[in-house]
Amino acid sequence: MPAPAAAVEIFEDLAQLTRRAAEIFVEASNRAVAQRERFTVVLSGGRTPQDLYRLLADASEYRDRIPWRSSHFFWGDERCVPPTHPESNFKMAFSAMLSKLDLPAENIHRIRAELPSPEAAQGYEDELRRFFSIGEGQAPDFDLVLLGMGPDGHTASLFPGSEAVREKKRLVVAPWVAKLSSFRITLTPPALNGGRQVTFLVAGADKAVALEAVLEGEPDPERFPAQAIQPSRGSLIWLADRPAASRLRALNS
Ligand code: 6PG
Repeated sequence: MPAPAAAVEIFEDLAQLTRRAAEIFVEASNRAVAQRERFTVVLSGGRTPQDLYRLLADASEYRDRIPWRSSHFFWGDERCVPPTHPESNFKMAFSAMLSKLDLPAENIHRIRAELPSPEAAQGYEDELRRFFSIGEGQAPDFDLVLLGMGPDGHTASLFPGSEAVREKKRLVVAPWVAKLSSFRITLTPPALNGGRQVTFLVAGADKAVALEAVLEGEPDPERFPAQAIQPSRGSLIWLADRPAASRLRALNS
């Protein structure tokens, strides 16, 4: 039995997908601040969201509609490098967006991935539990979680075959990723599935096989970790461009 249906929106190209994601970001931020006086968002790494981050900060039609000073930025995963390293997800988002805004420093919740990985993971978990005032068995209720997906169906740094995909209690772990020959720091499914709105941004023909498997194949999150993202109380939306969605029945029915 395939995973529960998620909302799938298909766009001609990355530019149109990015504009839709920007609207989702604006709506989620204003709804959160109106209801809870703050907006908490998990940023994804990788290439796909870079245009979104630039658009939000550069285009007045979005920038001027976002309550930036009430917004708190978190990361879904991080490479084990300093924040100045070209591979850093923090550096990517900071350069594309956060550095251009007048944000209180305490609103930027960076994963300190320059530390030894177990310490970095525990430190971030402690920060999440402290910020959201949650204990064991509870998950953060991020207002918006942005995720990408690799051609192998990974998301954040939850890679196929990784025990991190099966994690049920911890919010942040530091798995060894054999295919990358490196450790990563990643939020776990429990941490990501507490989100009020989870939005995947998937673009490129190289994602088509994995996207078909994740959305229309049998549940097999060990093989396709993006399937482990099933929000427990929030909504799940997949934004895909036509090349990435080219194998979906929904597109070809
Ligand atoms: C990372 C991301 C990762 C990314 C996918 C897709 O640290 O790279 O968290 O999960 O979202 O690999 O990456 P692209 O957007 O570059 O295709």
